Amino acid sequence: EVRMEGGPLRCWVVAGTPARVLRGWTALTGAPAVPPSWALGPQHARWGFGGEREVRRVVAGYRERGLPLSVLHLDIDHYDGHRVFTVDRERFPGLPGLAKELRAEGVRLVSIVDPAVKAEPGDAVFDAGLAVGERGAYVRDARGRVVVGEVWPGACVYPDFTDSLVREWWGSLYEERLSQGFSGVWHDMNEPVSFAAFGDPSLPRSARHVLEGAGGDHREAHNVYGLAMARAGYEGLLRLRPEERPFLFSRSGWAGLQRYGGTWSGDVSTGWPGLRASLSLVLGLGLCGVPYSGPDVGGFDGSPSPELYLRWFQLGAYLPLFRTHSAIDAGRREPWEFGPEVLEHARAALVERERLHPYFVTLSHVARLSGAPYVRPVWWTAPGDRGLRGCEDAFLLGDALLVAPVLEEGADRRVVRLPRGRWYDTVTGRAYEGPGPVVVEAPLSRIPVLARAGAVIPVRDADGELELEVWAPAPGRSGGGLVVRDPGDGWAEAGLERYVARWEGDRVVVERDGGGEGGPAVGLPVRVRGVVEGAEG
Ligand code: GLC
Repeated sequence: EVRMEGGPLRCWVVAGTPARVLRGWTALTGAPAVPPSWALGPQHARWGFGGEREVRRVVAGYRERGLPLSVLHLDIDHYDGHRVFTVDRERFPGLPGLAKELRAEGVRLVSIVDPAVKAEPGDAVFDAGLAVGERGAYVRDARGRVVVGEVWPGACVYPDFTDSLVREWWGSLYEERLSQGFSGVWHDMNEPVSFAAFGDPSLPRSARHVLEGAGGDHREAHNVYGLAMARAGYEGLLRLRPEERPFLFSRSGWAGLQRYGGTWSGDVSTGWPGLRASLSLVLGLGLCGVPYSGPDVGGFDGSPSPELYLRWFQLGAYLPLFRTHSAIDAGRREPWEFGPEVLEHARAALVERERLHPYFVTLSHVARLSGAPYVRPVWWTAPGDRGLRGCEDAFLLGDALLVAPVLEEGADRRVVRLPRGRWYDTVTGRAYEGPGPVVVEAPLSRIPVLARAGAVIPVRDADGELELEVWAPAPGRSGGGLVVRDPGDGWAEAGLERYVARWEGDRVVVERDGGGEGGPAVGLPVRVRGVVEGAEG
C-alpha cells in the first residue's frame, strides 16, 4: 500500500527493450544535453591547489610528459574564504590571464559552484540575494525567517531554486565566473548540505520553498533542489554565452538532470570497493537517463596504491566524464606520481581516450537523439540473457566496444561474459565467439577491450584526422556503425551518418548507408581490422 500526500501518484510504464525504455524515459524527462567536445577529453581536479603557481606546475607536468589534458578544475580553495563567486586574490592574482594562457595550450578551466551563500551583511552576493523579488532569494522558515545552515564558508543561507525569479538571479551571477575565464561549472554540496554533528545534514524539513508558486516544505523540495540549481546554472550560462553549449555537472540531481548536464561519483572512497562502485554508478545513472558521469579517478579520500590508481585510470578512460580528483588531505592523482611503469600505462590509456574522441562525440549525440547512454550494461541488446543480467563488472561502450575493467587487486587476466556474436580483443586482434564466458589477458598495461565484429568506429588517426576503424564482420555477416562529426561547441545541427560493413569476396567493404545501390562513397579513410588476426572459421 502506498499513500501519497499532495495529490495522486501518476505512474508511467514504459515497456520494451532497454533502448526503447530509455527512449521513452527521456521523451518524458528530457533529452540529455550534449557536452562541449572538450568535456569528453581528460580532466584533472584537486581540492587544495596552493595557487596559480601550482596550477601551472601541474599543467606543465602534463605538457612536459606529452600527456593530453583537456580540463583543469578549481575547487573551493580558489575562493576568497570559501565564498561562492569570489576569488582569493593572493593565491590567484590573475585568474583571467591564467585561464587565457592555459586555453592557448588547449586546457580549459572549470569552476566549482556551491549553492550556499555566506550569511554576512556586506557580502555582495548575500546582499544581492536579499534584494531579489519581494521576499529575497533565500529559503525561509514558516515564520518568514531566513534559514541559516553551515557549509564551507561558515554560516550560510540557501537560494530557493524552486522560484523562477531566484533561478534568474542566480544564473546571472555566472557572468562573474565567465569573466574569470572559466569555461564550465561543477555544482557541489547541492543536496543541499548543511553540516550537522548528528541528524539530517540538510535543511530542516519545515523550511519553506516556493515550488514554482505551489508552495511547500523541504520534504517536497529536497530532491529537486540540485535539479533546480542545475536549471538555474544552465539557463544562466545560455543567456550569458548563447553561442556555446554550457558545460555543467552536479553532485545532486533528479529525473531530468540530463537536460542541463551530468553528474559524478561525489566522494567515492579510495579502495577496490570504490573502484567497483564507480562502474555501478555510471551504469545505473545511464539507465536512469543521465548518460554523462564518471568517478573521482583514484577515489576521493585516500592514497591509492599504484595498481589501484592505474586500474581506476584505465576504467575512467572509457567513461564519459574522465577526471582525476582528490580531497585536500588525500594523496596526489597526477599520472606521474606513481612511478614510471604506471606513467607509461596511464599514458597509453590517455592516448587511447584521445584516439576514441570522435566515438565519444558520436555517443554524446546519440544520447541526445535516443536517450541511449554511452555506457550500457552488457545485456543492453540481450535483456533475456540471464547469464549477462548478473554481470556488473563489464560494460558496452556504445554498440561497438565491450570494456572489461580489472576490479580486483593482483589480477592479470579475467573472465569476460560475451554477448552473442564474434568479439575481437582490440589489442591482440584475437577473435572470441559469444555468447558465453571467456578468459582474457589483462596485464597491468591495459584492461581488456573487445570490439564487436562488424563494428564501424570513428577514431582519430595519427595526424588527428577522422578515420573509420572497421572490425571485420563474421563470415557471411555484415555490420555497421554511426558517426556524428564534431559540429563544434555551438548549436550547429549534427548530422548522423550511418555506415555498413560487409564482405565482398575476401574483402571487407564499407559504405555510407542511405544512398541506394552501392551507397555513396565513404569519403573517410577506412582501416579494417580483424581480418587475418587469429580469426577462426
Ligand atoms: C565535496 C565534493 C568534493 C570537493 C569538496 C570540496 O566533498 O564532493 O568533490 O572536492 O567538497 O569542495
